[in-house]
Amino acid sequence: MSHDPAPGVTFFATAAKGTEGALRDELRELGLRGVKADRGGVAFTGGWRDGWRACLGSRVAMRVLAEVGSYPATDAASLYEGARGVEWERHVSSRTTIAVSVVGTTPALVHTGFSAQRVKDAIVDRVRDREGARPSVDGDDPDVRVFARLKGGGATVYLDLAGAPLFQRGWRAASAEAPLKETLAAAVLRLSGWTIDQPLFDPMCGSGTILIEAALASRRIAPGLFRARFGFERWASHGPEDAREVAALRAALDAEITADAPPIAGCDADASAVAAAEENARRARVKVALSARPLSLARAPTTQGHVVTNPPYGKRLSRGAGLGDDLGDAMRRHGGHAFGVLTADDATLQGTGRAWDRAFELFNGDLRCRLALFGPVGGPGGGPRPRRIVR
Ligand SMILES: C[S@@+](CC[C@H](N)C(=O)[O-])C[C@H]1O[C@@H](n2cnc3c(N)ncnc32)[C@H](O)[C@@H]1O
Repeated sequence: MSHDPAPGVTFFATAAKGTEGALRDELRELGLRGVKADRGGVAFTGGWRDGWRACLGSRVAMRVLAEVGSYPATDAASLYEGARGVEWERHVSSRTTIAVSVVGTTPALVHTGFSAQRVKDAIVDRVRDREGARPSVDGDDPDVRVFARLKGGGATVYLDLAGAPLFQRGWRAASAEAPLKETLAAAVLRLSGWTIDQPLFDPMCGSGTILIEAALASRRIAPGLFRARFGFERWASHGPEDAREVAALRAALDAEITADAPPIAGCDADASAVAAAEENARRARVKVALSARPLSLARAPTTQGHVVTNPPYGKRLSRGAGLGDDLGDAMRRHGGHAFGVLTADDATLQGTGRAWDRAFELFNGDLRCRLALFGPVGGPGGGPRPRRIVR
C-alpha cells in the first residue's frame, strides 16, 4: 500500500496557545500552502510529503495532524458509526498498534475516555472485518496515533504524523528545574524578533533550551534530523517509495546545514543547570559559551544583539528577591541589546523599572505567561512606550 501522492490532505499543526502566529509564519517560510492560523494551531493543505516536511522542519509545531474524516456525532452510536466509515485500512493493519485520544464533549458524550473507546472500537472492528484480525492497542508507543475532536455536534478524526510530540527533539539528556519545551523556546525566539544571524545571550539559561534552539536555527539544522523515525514511518501505508522520499527530504535538509553561527552564550546562577546545558549542547552538536554566574554579574560577549530569557517565576520556581532590579541593571549594562523576557510574574517585569514596548500573551503548559519585549536602551524603541499586548 502506498500513500496517495495527490495533494488534498488537510493538516492541522498544533502549537502552544499564543504561539500560533509564530507557527503560521514558520510554515509559510517552509513553503507550505493554504496556511491559516486558528486557535491552538495552524491549518495547511497539501500532499503527504508536505506533512512530512512540516514534521522534519518545524521548530514551533507540537504535533502535525492529518484530517482523515469528519462526520456528525452527537452520541456514542453516531460517534462509532461515523468512525467506522473512515478508511482506516489505508494506514492501519492488524499488525499495527493504535492509540486513540479524544478532545471535546457533547451533552451525550461527556467522558473523553469513553468517546476514545468508541472510536477505537470502530477502527478495530473495521480492520477486523477486512483482514479477519484486529489491530491491538498500545497506549504508550503506538504505531498509529489517532485524535478525534468533538465540536458543534460533529467529530473530526486525525492521524498524528509525528507520533511522539515534536518538542521531544532527541538532544535533551539533562534537565534543570522548569525547562521550557523546545517548541515554546523556538516560538519565543521568533516572537522576540531574534533572527538567525544575530548574537544571542540568555543570562538565566537553565538547561539551555533557548540557546540550543537558537544555535540549531542559526546553523539551519532542521529539528527533525535528530529523530530516527516519525510516527508516519510506522504506518501500514508507508511503503518503500515513501521511505525513499523521506530519505531524500532528510538528505536535502542535511545539505542546508551551515558551519557559521553568531555568538550564542549564556549563564545561570546554578552550576548544575549550566552542566545540564553543556551536556545538552554537546548532544545537539552546537557551540554555546556557558558559565556559572548570577544575573548581577552576567555579561554578554557582544555589545549588540538579543537577550532572550526565562526568569524563574512563582508557581514553578521560588522567586529570588530583587530579580527585577537585577534584570533592570542587566538591561542598562547591555544597552545595545533588545530584551525578550518570558515570565508569568509581572513583578519581575515591573522591577526592571522599564516599560516594555510590546508583549505577547502565551501559555507555558497551563501557565499564562507574558513575553515582554524591550528595545535597546539607546536604539529606536528604547524609550518608555505605551504597553501593548498582542494576542
Ligand atoms: C525557568 S528557569 C529557566 C529554564 C530554561 N529556560 C530552560 O529551558 O531550561 C530559570 C533559571 O533562572 C536561574 N536563576 C534564578 N535566579 C537567578 C539569578 N539571580 N541569576 C542567574 N540565574 C538565576 C535558575 O537557576 C533557573 O535555572
